[in-house]
Amino acid sequence: MKVKTWLTMMATALTVFAVQAQEMSDDAIAERIKPVGEVHVSGAAAEGAAAGGGGAKSGEDVYNQACVACHGSGVLGAPKLHVAADWQPRLDERGLDGIWENALNGINAMPPRGTCGACSDEEIKAAIEYMIEGI
Ligand code: HEC
Repeated sequence: MKVKTWLTMMATALTVFAVQAQEMSDDAIAERIKPVGEVHVSGAAAEGAAAGGGGAKSGEDVYNQACVACHGSGVLGAPKLHVAADWQPRLDERGLDGIWENALNGINAMPPRGTCGACSDEEIKAAIEYMIEGI
């Protein structure tokens, strides 16, 4: 890959990350100032939005949309698609639930939800299962 392409990709990923981080904190504030009764309703609305009306996305779709930028080539040390040597030590240490939790919350250079703010917890899990499939 050309250096310029790589840099463009990095810049894009970091921009998305920054926007995402901003959205997250806005959401957190909104959540805190919301009257108690409203929280449940908006949660349901958020779920509807996450599903996009067309049902849950497959793990492969989520991966191609949100994870491939880093996990395809190992940008910033991201464990690569279907590479057992990258994933096995993480699975041995934390198990699927542990790495799922880190994917939802973010870990080091890994942004929360891999920048897919609209992805449900299950869609993130499906993307992880796709990445570790067959290892
Ligand atoms: C901006 C780049 C980037 C994007 C986009 C990204 N990741 Fe990551 N991801 C990383 C990096 C870097 C690590 C390694 C973090 C570390 O352990 O220091 C990582 C680690 C992980 C891990 C391992 C966590 C652990 O506990 O070891 C999982 C699972 C993961 N990513 C899932 C995803 C999923 C699912 C997506 C798409 C929805 C995604 N990532 C998108 C950069 C990214």
